[in-house]
Amino acid sequence: MVANDGRLNGNRGQPSERDGRPHPPHRWQPRHTRYVHLTGWGMCVPERVVTNAELEAVVETTDDWIRTRTGIQERRIANDRETVTQMGFEAARAALNRADVLPSEIDLIVVATSTPEDIYPSSASKIQNLLGATQAGAFDLSAACSGFVYALDMAAQAIRSGSINTALVIGSEVNSRVLDWNDRSTCVLFGDGAGAVLLEGSDQPGGFMGAVLGSDGSGAELLGIPTVGTASLPEGRQMHKIHMDGREVFRFAVHIITESIRQVLEKTDLSLADIDLIVPHQANQRILSAAARNLNVSEALFYSNVHRYGNTSAASIPIALCEAEREGRLKPNDNVIVVGFGGGLTWAAAALQWQSVQEKAPKGLAYRLSQGRRELQYITAFWRARALKTYRRLEAVLRGSPAKHANLRESAPAKGKEDSSREKR
Ligand code: ACO
Repeated sequence: MVANDGRLNGNRGQPSERDGRPHPPHRWQPRHTRYVHLTGWGMCVPERVVTNAELEAVVETTDDWIRTRTGIQERRIANDRETVTQMGFEAARAALNRADVLPSEIDLIVVATSTPEDIYPSSASKIQNLLGATQAGAFDLSAACSGFVYALDMAAQAIRSGSINTALVIGSEVNSRVLDWNDRSTCVLFGDGAGAVLLEGSDQPGGFMGAVLGSDGSGAELLGIPTVGTASLPEGRQMHKIHMDGREVFRFAVHIITESIRQVLEKTDLSLADIDLIVPHQANQRILSAAARNLNVSEALFYSNVHRYGNTSAASIPIALCEAEREGRLKPNDNVIVVGFGGGLTWAAAALQWQSVQEKAPKGLAYRLSQGRRELQYITAFWRARALKTYRRLEAVLRGSPAKHANLRESAPAKGKEDSSREKR
């Protein structure tokens, strides 16, 4: 990660000595506040399409029930090779291509997910390794379906402060692995996929304008996935499976989507008339219709692709951003609100200008050259990871246990000496 301009120094106020030369005391100096622009985006969804009709063979449901209650017509379901990491990596690659940025230029990778392969290592670290983003810090963020907007805000604030310059924000989920396929009230709602955006710092005004984040843990039991730390499972819950009180979550969602849009408008000094598109978390078309009614705006202001993918949790907003752009619903400098809600309970909304800086390189020779450099970095990343693993194994064989070099007996004060120093005191 790119370090701050200044460094925190242990002996504050005292001249420090490094390399034998005295240095003046360091004071941490943040760079001036920067603007944050969204310069790249990409998505990846599993190939397998599962229609409502196919689900009729799995649980007692009908295409008509699912369509009329949710708007969902089909969803994508991952195969064994399609994981949060793999799909997140593909989405990230597409975002880097769009922004024409090299993996080695990324300072931070945040992955919003509730369905990682492991609690740790994080999916973000695995994606960092696959990309060969050797200068990047990486972590996963857990805020259920609000996770992408939370991650967007965290990354944007880090860029604004001058701490970093380039961040990759990914939402990636394989909900199909945490569904109880006997529970018709949940299994028809969710799908799998990943989306990513690239954020870059700039002195040019525009881009990310602001966000509001919220949480109400008193509603924790309404929606969740119990996992390893659960001491005892309440009646009717299953380990690693989604449970949801649909009606209560519906009520919460309609209220909070409206409220958080109002709040973010107020915070950023905008009105609904300034907004070109609202890209909400895609959970249920009826939630979006109700929110549009509450805000007294046309339903067309809310982008929706829930009919194609169902609820892909933290991935739904970045996937929707990609598709909205592809369909011509998002154009450079458009004002967009992204708004998420979900387990926690949590919610988050952010306002930003879409693609508010000029594309770095038109798709000419320069772009093809940097595309070649990106591909080279992915290949290098693969061999680098193998070489590092081999090196670690070799080092373990040649040097043995690191504990044998740390002789505790030698470093501990001798008993006699300790006693005499105590007497002196
Ligand atoms: N097929 C047929 N019937 C069904 C199905 C199904 N798949 N699922 C439930 N039913 C039945 C119920 O058993 C119930 O039958 P009953 O009346 O005999 O008891 C009936 O349909 C109506 O059930 P409701 O719960 O009242 O249905 P509702 O209209 O509320 O729709 C739904 C349910 C779609 C789940 C809705 O409540 C909803 O969308 N809730 C919000 C979900 C959401 O937004 N989740 C976001 C999660 S974000 C995150 O963090 C993961």
